[in-house]
This record gives sequence, structure tokens and C-alpha cells, in this order.
Amino acid sequence: MQEALTNISKYARAENVSITLSGNEIISLLIVDDGIGFSMNAMTRNMGLNGIRDRVTFLQGEFELASKPGRGVSIHIEFPRVSYFRRRSSDY
Ligand SMILES: Nc1ncnc2c1ncn2[C@@H]1O[C@H](COP(=O)(O)OP(=O)(O)OP(=O)(O)O)[C@@H](O)[C@H]1O
Ligand SMILES: [Mg+2]
Repeated sequence: MQEALTNISKYARAENVSITLSGNEIISLLIVDDGIGFSMNAMTRNMGLNGIRDRVTFLQGEFELASKPGRGVSIHIEFPRVSYFRRRSSDY
């Protein structure tokens, strides 16, 4: 959420930002802005969004990013509240 909001404040020029955090066993986080958006073809090796993806992957979750120029950005993340690793170790 911190990285998504930092990006919005740096680039989006958004009027509205919506943050939806929901779920229990599976935690879902949806962050949508209505700013300038960007072309997904221009996605580079920057640390920010790729860092989110890496951390979500590590938590065995899913990361979905959608944007088009002029159409804002939407980021949807889902991950299990208790990670596989912690479930495993608490079994013993
Ligand atoms: N909410 C947004 N609205 C408009 N453009 C965005 C938004 N989020 C990201 N971008 C664009 O996508 C690019 C990649 O974002 P990313 O967070 O991966 O890298 P960064 O912010 O440029 O660098 P870093 O996060 O490493 O400081 C940004 O440079 C910006 O052009
Ligand atoms: Mg960033």
C-alpha cells in the first residue's frame, strides 16, 4: 500500500483514490486511482511495482496491475493471511 500510494502521489495527478482492504483467510487489497495512468508496455525494471510483485509472490499471493494512459491505475493484491511457511511450522 505504501509503494502504491507513493506512486500515486508522485505520478498519478489523481482526483480520487480508493483503497479497499477486505477478507479474512485470504486478504485482498485493491487500490484504484483515476489519474493519468501509464502504458504497461513502458514497464521497466524499476524497483517499486516489481518489488510489490516479488513480495506478493513470496507470500504465495497474486498481483494484478492494470493501467492505460488517461485511465488511471488499478492494483489488486491477494494473499493468504497465514503463509504456507507459518502454517507448516505451526503444525509441528
Ligand atoms: N499510479 C500511477 N499513475 C501513473 N503512473 C504510474 C503510477 N504508478 C506507477 N506509474 C508509472 O510507472 C513507473 C514504474 O513505477 P515503479 O513504482 O515501478 O517505479 P518508480 O516509482 O519510477 O521507481 P521506484 O518505485 O523504484 O522509486 C513510474 O515511473 C511511473 O511512470
Ligand atoms: Mg515507485
